[in-house]
Order: sequence, then structure tokens, then C-alpha cells
Amino acid sequence: MRWFVTGSEGQLGSALRQRLSAAGESFFGKDLELDVADAGAVRRELERLPGGPPDLLVNAAALTHVDRCEAEPELARRINAEAPAGLARLCGELGVRFVHISTDYVFDGEARAPYPVDAEARPTSVYGETKWQGERDVRALAPDALIVRTSWVFGRGRNFVAAVLAQADQVARAGKGQLRVVDDQRGRPTYALDLAEAIRLLVDAGHTGVFHVANDGEATWWDVARAALDHAGHAEVPIERIGTPSLSLPAPRPSYSVLDLSKAREAGVPMRPWQQALRAYLESADSPLDRAA
Ligand SMILES: NC(=O)c1ccc[n+]([C@@H]2O[C@H](COP(=O)([O-])OP(=O)(O)OC[C@H]3O[C@@H](n4cnc5c(N)ncnc54)[C@H](OP(=O)(O)O)[C@@H]3O)[C@@H](O)[C@H]2O)c1
Repeated sequence: MRWFVTGSEGQLGSALRQRLSAAGESFFGKDLELDVADAGAVRRELERLPGGPPDLLVNAAALTHVDRCEAEPELARRINAEAPAGLARLCGELGVRFVHISTDYVFDGEARAPYPVDAEARPTSVYGETKWQGERDVRALAPDALIVRTSWVFGRGRNFVAAVLAQADQVARAGKGQLRVVDDQRGRPTYALDLAEAIRLLVDAGHTGVFHVANDGEATWWDVARAALDHAGHAEVPIERIGTPSLSLPAPRPSYSVLDLSKAREAGVPMRPWQQALRAYLESADSPLDRAA
């Protein structure tokens, strides 16, 4: 199968490159050098691939900086909503299967049990709202698309785990201080390589429609930070539990965004516990620990 991935240098894009190459699939990808919101440019790119348009396109490009989305809502709308609609249309015209990635931030966080795939979306931030609009447009324009919602992704590049480990290094070097991490948001952390493998399995089995994919278990960001620091040999670095309001962030975050994974599980997608996936990440070539060493 010939895959084309937008946002190919991001966490998921680079994980797809690794997983698909290991599985012997053909991988083509572009990141910022191909503006995903420029459907004409994407069409030209797909048409001039060796062998012509790919079998499928995975849209892993997004504006994922949630606070930047609040500050630049038009940019967020262009990349997170208009771009997927344009890609869905283009894929329909070219006969290319379309896979789109969405987010737990389409939910408002008021639930107290995991959100099933058909739970009502009620986003509270510009990021969540623009991603939800993108999802809705993809569903209307490409009913056969596969839409995978995920949450709290860590992999190669910028992410929460890498950020707290960098801070812990500073505290450990200074021999004093502590980290402050929020303990009032609950979700499911997700290793980008596990997400990439899940997408490959769902595509191989011909699934369409909405799926939730994340690692198993639930956590707060404090739990994730503590597990990462303990594994990285920073068990001595204290982490204060704080509440989200004390950070005065521009974008609201859902306090509870645990995704119900039963549909993906029934489709045969393995989802290991997040603690195991976090250890695998920290021991991988993409680990921020390697870069710090
Ligand atoms: N990260 C998470 O915790 C999380 C949680 C739930 C859902 N998701 C969804 O999962 C998908 C993959 O996320 P990720 O974590 O891999 O994100 P990521 O690491 O931020 O990767 C997205 C990539 O797309 C690029 N990009 C931005 N604007 C573009 C444009 N106009 N044209 C082409 N590329 C562009 C980004 O470049 P820049 O870095 O320069 O912007 C980045 O390289 C996204 O749909 C995201 O909404 C992510």
C-alpha cells in the first residue's frame, strides 16, 4: 500500500514513517513545506508522486498548540477545519482513501465516565472547536473516511513528557527547587508509535467511521510527570500538585477527557497501559533522555 502523510515531521507523522517503513509499506510525506490548507498544492504533490496518487492519505498535520489557537483563531480554523475539508474533497476526486486525526478536546470534560465515539461533542476551546468542525466536514464530504480521535500524545519532538524532563534536569542540576504540575485534568496518555500501529491495523482491516485510540488506563498530568521522572532517575525531584486555574492559560482544558476505547478494542487494536508505553518511549531512540545525555 502507498501512504501519503501530511504533517510528516510531527509526533504522529514521524511515528507513521517508522511503523509503515518497518511493515514494508511505501511512505511519502510532507510537513510545513507542503501547506496542508492549499488543496491545489496538495493535488500537484499527490499527482507527481512516482506511480501517481497514493492509495491513502493520512492527515496528521494540525495546529496543536492549544493556546496559540486561542490567539490565532483564523489560522487554527484554516489548518484544523478548512484543510481537512479540502483534503476530504480532494481524496474523493482522486479516489484516495482518507484518514483524519482528531482529538479528545472535542469534548467538554463534564462527563465522569469514558466518552464513547458517539458521545456529544461540545468543545470549549478554539483548538477543540476547529478540530470538531474539521471532523464534521470530513464526515459530510467523505463518509468512508476513517477518523481517529486520540489524546495526550507523546513521541518524537515537542510534548509534555519532554518538557517536564527538561525542567527536572534543571532542578536536579541546581540541587534545589521543584516542578509544579496540574493534577485536575484526567485523560489517557498515548504513545505516538502505538497510535501509528493502531491506524495501520484499522486501515488494513478496512475500517471507516470514528474510532478512539489511546493507551489504556487513566492519568492526570501529575501522574504522567511523576512516572516519567521516576523512570528517568529523578525520583528525588519533587512535583507539587497544582490546579489548572492557577496557570491562567488562555485556552480552557477539559478536566476529564478519557476516551472510551471499546470500539477500537473490538476491532482488534491492542492498547497497552500508558505506563508501559511511557517506559517504551523513554527507552526508544526518540527518548528526550537520549538528547539530554
Ligand atoms: N499532541 C497531542 O497531544 C494530540 C492530542 C489529541 C489529538 N491530536 C491530534 O493528532 C494529530 C497529530 O498530532 P501530533 O501530536 O503529531 O502534532 P504535531 O507534533 O504538532 O505535528 C503536526 C505537524 O503538522 C505541522 N503543520 C502545522 N501546520 C501545517 C500546515 N499548514 N501544513 C503542513 N503541516 C503543518 C506541524 O508543524 P509545526 O510544529 O511547525 O506547527 C507539525 O509538524 C493532530 O491531528 C492532532 O490534532 C494530538
